[in-house]
Amino acid sequence: MTVPVRYELLKRCSHTLARRGVVHTPHGSIQTPVFMPVGTQATVKTLSPFELREMGAGIILSNTYHLHLRPGEDLVAEAGGLHGFMHWDGAILTDSGGFQVFSLADLRKITDEGVQFRSHIDGSPRFFSPESVMAIENQLGADIIMAFDECPPYPASRDYLETSLRRTLDWAKRCKQAHGRPDEQALFGIVQGGAELDLRKAAAEALVEMDFPGYAVGGLSVGEPKPVMYDVLAFTTPLLPADKPRYLMGVGSPDDLFEGVERGIDMFDCVLPTRIARNGTVLTSRGKLVLKNAQYARDFSPLDEDCSCMVCRSFTRAYLRHLLKAGEVLGIRLTSYHNVWFLLRVMEGIRKAIENDQFLAYKREFYDRFGYNDD
Ligand code: GUN
Ligand code: ZN
Repeated sequence: MTVPVRYELLKRCSHTLARRGVVHTPHGSIQTPVFMPVGTQATVKTLSPFELREMGAGIILSNTYHLHLRPGEDLVAEAGGLHGFMHWDGAILTDSGGFQVFSLADLRKITDEGVQFRSHIDGSPRFFSPESVMAIENQLGADIIMAFDECPPYPASRDYLETSLRRTLDWAKRCKQAHGRPDEQALFGIVQGGAELDLRKAAAEALVEMDFPGYAVGGLSVGEPKPVMYDVLAFTTPLLPADKPRYLMGVGSPDDLFEGVERGIDMFDCVLPTRIARNGTVLTSRGKLVLKNAQYARDFSPLDEDCSCMVCRSFTRAYLRHLLKAGEVLGIRLTSYHNVWFLLRVMEGIRKAIENDQFLAYKREFYDRFGYNDD
């Protein structure tokens, strides 16, 4: 059997768990640590695949939940799968719906069999099980597909976390059995267990025993204090095999990228850069900037003097502010472009720093300039 996704470890940081590697996929080799822009509905909001390519994105994430509801996996398969449908020839990862069904769907009923819910679009009744989600992800055709899991809220009782984890591990086994294209798509298992470290350990051990080509840490950034997330990560990644990629789901603020990498994470995704761009907030090397503020009305400097993106080379804060205030769509396109570019360059900097064994120095420098305090 050929393996669709293989992790190559290039270098370890000598002071932290940070590592520099490559994730080889059927649609290209991804330099890690990597940030994956989110294309929920087969588009990274406002950005074309040509722009994503030019920014240096190698892999994007899309969502099973949304694509199943609209336009449906049959239509996507007919178009040649997600890659053909959206004209993206880089790598794609699909999330399983294990998060969206709990955050977006109405009237959920969860049993060991699966989740009964109503579509948030038209209220129609739907049912997701590990088997049905695998069939959908197989049809969508992403390079990496995620197991169907339950992402419990924070805080959750010990009792609930135990019940939920038992179910998630049972579903992981069923996903593996139901996966119809193991030679073409890599199925990643998802470690859950909330903030209970012994549950995280049991989850990691059970999933490693099932032998997945990659592992995610889920159930984080769901409202817990940041130190809790960092402790769970520091505890969990050493329990995962060093020769497989590790993916922290739904996390991507600049500080969380550094803290995740420091604790051994290779892959991240987050709606943050595109979401905040649409309300006019941009990331810069000197911190966040809220463009609608009056102080930028006559500011004819670029968003970030240290950024070499197409937006920063061409437009002023005053112009971008005007576009946003006037509700012009170009405004949110340009802020989205800059924000995604910015996070991709942060990750590039992190990769270079690990190569030179300068990760902590690079982190300190970034935090100083951005305005985070690093303790
Ligand atoms: N996205 C963010 N967190 C999670 C999680 O715990 N599970 C899944 N499937 N997706 C996520
Ligand atoms: Zn820029």
